[in-house]
Amino acid sequence: MVPVLEVLADLADGFSASSLFEAKLARQVGGSEKEVQFTSPTLRPQDAEELAGVAHRIAFNSLSQFDRFKGVFAGRLGMGLRVDPGVSFIPDERYNPCRAGSKLGAALADVQTLLKAQPREARKLEGILFHNNCESEDFQHLRQTAQAVVSALGPWLKDLAWINLGGGYLFDEETDFTPLTETIALFRQATPARLFFEPGKGIVGPSMALVASVVDLIEKGSRQVAVLDTSVNHLPEVFEYQTHPPVRGELPEGGHRYQLVGATCLAGDLFGEYGFPEPLTVGSRIFFEEVGAYSFVKAHYFNGVNLPAVYAAAPGGGAQLKKQYSYEEFVSRCGGLIHANC
Ligand SMILES: Cc1ncc(COP(=O)(O)O)c(C=O)c1O
Repeated sequence: MVPVLEVLADLADGFSASSLFEAKLARQVGGSEKEVQFTSPTLRPQDAEELAGVAHRIAFNSLSQFDRFKGVFAGRLGMGLRVDPGVSFIPDERYNPCRAGSKLGAALADVQTLLKAQPREARKLEGILFHNNCESEDFQHLRQTAQAVVSALGPWLKDLAWINLGGGYLFDEETDFTPLTETIALFRQATPARLFFEPGKGIVGPSMALVASVVDLIEKGSRQVAVLDTSVNHLPEVFEYQTHPPVRGELPEGGHRYQLVGATCLAGDLFGEYGFPEPLTVGSRIFFEEVGAYSFVKAHYFNGVNLPAVYAAAPGGGAQLKKQYSYEEFVSRCGGLIHANC
């Protein structure tokens, strides 16, 4: 979300983008001083010129993408390659960038073949990116991945200008950072290349909350149901991936238990069961926390329920309204125009 990016722009060296729009937004928020790094399985010829104007470097997602676009970007962007290290830690294949037949990155064996068969082509690449984890709190995974990359590409790495270690790690107080420093030491022995880290959810996840109000309370059999003025369509991961976002002040066990349900006609529009120290009433506020990153960014208008307004926490407390969505925006999102009599 833009207010979060604006805060991060003061703290980070740059932003990573996965689409032309993200790259343009990163440039808009970060200005010319912040580096914009691009990688995506989709690169369309009609987007390439505009991308060259806003990004600083690109990690091609495949060798064929490199082959088709190197002529457009050579001398304008730093060109690198996303590699698939073939090391997996994620049991849920939907999140696994190294799943069998993954679309994400060139296999290390194919990079080795390029280095042997076409060394002049390989010299056009000045960096590599790998990203193979998701919500991991174990930096041993990163070290294991680095070992696989160093052992496959070792001699080549010393010629590179940068190595992007991707994201996929969460940071909390318990996290042991030793394997992270060991990873950096491992690369330092192999290469003077600049090292980047581009965590997403670890940084942005805790930055947002979805604030809803209870609009009705229903007793159904033995169940208490609290209807909210938001919907899982505002946090699509709840429905798509059965996530259970933490709610401020909730009691994991016991308390007054409610099924928190969304505002739409979809029967499965449910946030799940939550416990509270006091009974809820119509008007009670519910704060779904840690919904930055991949949650609200996917919010949509299913059933015509308006998107939540965006507020930024004000420095001295309170909140500043940043964006409220209008009926006109809903109609235009549906491909329509507003008629004068509406
Ligand atoms: C190439 C790349 N880098 C970084 C990230 C950020 O990952 P996360 O939000 O899990 O830290 C992603 C997420 O998909 C990614 O594809």
